[in-house]
Amino acid sequence: MSTLASDAATRSDAAPARPGARRPYETRRTFAIISHPDAGKTTLTEKLLLSGGAIEMAGAVRSKGNGRRAKSDWMEIEKNRGISVTSSVMTFEKEGINFNLLDTPGHSDFSEDTYRTLTAVDSAIMVIDAAKGIEAQTKKLFEICRLRDIPIITFVNKVDREGRDPFEILDEIEAELALTVAPMVWPVGQGGLFKGCYDLAKNDFLFAGSDRTQHYAGGLDDPALRAALGESAYAGFRDAAELAQEGYAAFDPEAYRQGHLTPVIFGSALQNFAVDRLMDFIAEHAPEPRPQPSDRGPVDPSEEKVSGFVFKVQANMDPKHRDRVAFVRFCSGHFKRGMKLDHVRSGKPIAVSNPIYFVAQERALTEEAHAGDVIGIPNHGTLQVGDTLTEGESFRFTGLPAFAPEVLRRVRLADTMKMKQMRRGLEDLAQEGLVQVFRPTIGSDFIVGVVGPLQLDVLAARIAGEYKAEVSFEPVQYNVARWIRSNDERALKEFVRENTLNVVRDRDDWPVYLCKDEWDLRYIMSRNKDIAFDATREIV
Ligand code: G4P
Repeated sequence: MSTLASDAATRSDAAPARPGARRPYETRRTFAIISHPDAGKTTLTEKLLLSGGAIEMAGAVRSKGNGRRAKSDWMEIEKNRGISVTSSVMTFEKEGINFNLLDTPGHSDFSEDTYRTLTAVDSAIMVIDAAKGIEAQTKKLFEICRLRDIPIITFVNKVDREGRDPFEILDEIEAELALTVAPMVWPVGQGGLFKGCYDLAKNDFLFAGSDRTQHYAGGLDDPALRAALGESAYAGFRDAAELAQEGYAAFDPEAYRQGHLTPVIFGSALQNFAVDRLMDFIAEHAPEPRPQPSDRGPVDPSEEKVSGFVFKVQANMDPKHRDRVAFVRFCSGHFKRGMKLDHVRSGKPIAVSNPIYFVAQERALTEEAHAGDVIGIPNHGTLQVGDTLTEGESFRFTGLPAFAPEVLRRVRLADTMKMKQMRRGLEDLAQEGLVQVFRPTIGSDFIVGVVGPLQLDVLAARIAGEYKAEVSFEPVQYNVARWIRSNDERALKEFVRENTLNVVRDRDDWPVYLCKDEWDLRYIMSRNKDIAFDATREIV
């Protein structure tokens, strides 16, 4: 029997029978929200979930989140500092479109986690506070999206409050991010004078303070619109809207999909204003799953065989169960519960019998998944960030980097009897990607590396809370870390031997050179031309 024939018969990703019918993966929209803390990401997430029917009550994300957070210390840190440090995934469906929203931490100390999450999305929403414009973290996250050509839709939030001039915000996006802007939904008035928003493409007016939306067939010149707004509000709005339409680019779906143009929607997450326009936009224009880079070339979502990669691992999501969940983004095929997938790194098959998906903060078993979908696979440490899962193939997905840490510290254990617990905690949390852990060639002290110091607070709190070991951190004489490699194996061995004190090993046993500062690094590089010193390394 031809396996190909039988595969095609059971795959719903095979070409659709009806013209116009969509393959399942074509209905997937896998995206993230990027923003500076406080711009309104949580509020917007909640409104998207409400709109998608994933939650029934405003406040559910926050209150459930807080209920869960109150249970563990490290989440308490997150709460106290008012930041979100975990990435999670929320799945919901509306009018035949399956939305997979991947949450990213807003704080810059967790940018590595965010980077990896952004490798798993096909598009992003950038939320900007109308009073503040582009802020530091927005810009940083935007740059990450640009590296991967991730299309971005901009939501300028909080237009119900007094904010900056909308044109100023548009010009700032254009200047600071070097992106063409295409205004789509325009605010009328601000603060106390806020009257609503006008959809420039559809000629709809969304009235403030009510759910009323009115279509004006005559566009900006429709007398009914003039009457509805009143003479004075109309005059100012008419001029501004015309300038917004004529002075800026029109929406071009192709330029958006290539990451050169961002459509801009002015709205209010809190008032649930223009959020449906945002969602409609994502359904209509945001890209379906895109081909994903691998060492055998891009993997197309229409390919029949299942493939996916682990972009995040989270230990102890449920503190009672000591479990570890690997988040897998599928890139092709039709996954079914119970399937055996090849774990390419180890070469061993794994049976995925209890895949989970996430609705708001709840999880449930899922029977199937398509390209673009994200599921969690509970496991005991087999799955690591960067791992590829396939259906009998041996390629690997590429493009998941690790960054050289910017802060290095020696780990000190308060009670030496707790060595086992500490090791386990460090290993687990390194696999999760919270920190990087390095083992010196000589001696037994661990060195941890992080991007930002807040990660150290979280590390200590989690090792205490989840592994019952008290650790502290002390400065080391190093501030710079670089992965080292060479085409000349002997030269590398020799270098490691001569620099034993400065060479440590990462979790995959790769040698890492530590030194005091950039000056030292330049010096050692100039003396060892046959060794490469890398600030990033591909996770394999
Ligand atoms: P974040 O996840 O990006 O950090 O932001 P979050 O949604 O928590 O929102 C930050 C603050 O901004 C919250 O106020 C929230 O209510 C407010 N906010 C969000 N969207 C809008 C909007 O469209 N209009 C207005 N006026 N405010 C908005 P808070 O006082 O810090 O928190 P809370 O007490 O309201 O929960």
